[in-house]
Amino acid sequence: MEAKLTLLVQLMVILCSAWEITSKFEFTNVNCTSLDENFTEIEYCYLKSINRTYKYFSARVTLFQVPVTNIKVNLALLKRLNGYKPFLYNYTVDACRFLKNPKSKPVINYFYEFFRPWSNMNHSCPFNHDLVVDKLTASFINHQFTNILAFPEGDYLLETNWFAYGIKRAVVKVYGTLRE
Ligand SMILES: *[C@@H]1O[C@H](CO)[C@@H](O)[C@H](O)[C@H]1NC(C)=O
Ligand SMILES: *[C@@H]1O[C@H](CO)[C@@H](O)[C@H](O)[C@H]1NC(C)=O
Ligand SMILES: *[C@@H]1O[C@H](CO)[C@@H](O)[C@H](O)[C@H]1NC(C)=O
Ligand SMILES: *[C@@H]1O[C@H](CO)[C@@H](O)[C@H](O)[C@H]1NC(C)=O
Ligand SMILES: *[C@@H]1O[C@H](CO)[C@@H](O)[C@H](O)[C@H]1NC(C)=O
Repeated sequence: MEAKLTLLVQLMVILCSAWEITSKFEFTNVNCTSLDENFTEIEYCYLKSINRTYKYFSARVTLFQVPVTNIKVNLALLKRLNGYKPFLYNYTVDACRFLKNPKSKPVINYFYEFFRPWSNMNHSCPFNHDLVVDKLTASFINHQFTNILAFPEGDYLLETNWFAYGIKRAVVKVYGTLRE
């Protein structure tokens, strides 16, 4: 009985420590580019390290031709092998339609949930204000990455291409690593 209990406790300790040492996400770089200065300007887009455990991504994008009522976003995940190669996801979504009912597209919603709580893009179209992502932390991404869907270790790039009225206006690239 006692031996069994000890075994159980040991098993729990192992399971708990395995849980603790699940992969860890870190931001490595970001790159935001406006492709049409008449339509949009990247006011800022950066990573900031406050300390070893607190690192975040912030960005602010000005829209000059508001209200914007037609947005498409192409979202592709790439993983580094020899250079970055497409990995699992490459979707284009009609953002205005999606935002009316995010739960209708679970995979897109999965990516949306990475930044929704930290942004002002949490409503449906039209957009008549600057787009802001404020202090999206690595630990939040980490939670999304490892606790919801399991991903293998490696260097990743999430590339997002932003279209308005069918014209590509901006590219936002977020680089990160996932390590044991
Ligand atoms: C950012 O990406 C663009 C292309 O999307 C590239 O032209 C530019 O050199 C990159 N900037 C940096 C700092 O890497
Ligand atoms: C921006 O607007 C200016 C003035 O209207 C025009 O000359 C220029 O070609 C436009 N640039 C783009 C990228 O459309
Ligand atoms: C890192 O910075 C955050 C925000 O200032 C703070 O709450 C946290 O305690 C700091 N962590 C360490 C390990 O210094
Ligand atoms: C994603 O798919 C589109 C359309 O098929 C393609 O143009 C684009 O290059 C792909 N993106 C990546 C990163 O492979
Ligand atoms: C969007 O986020 C802002 C700021 O966090 C919040 O005040 C607002 O209620 C949110 N709107 C929706 C529709 O969730």
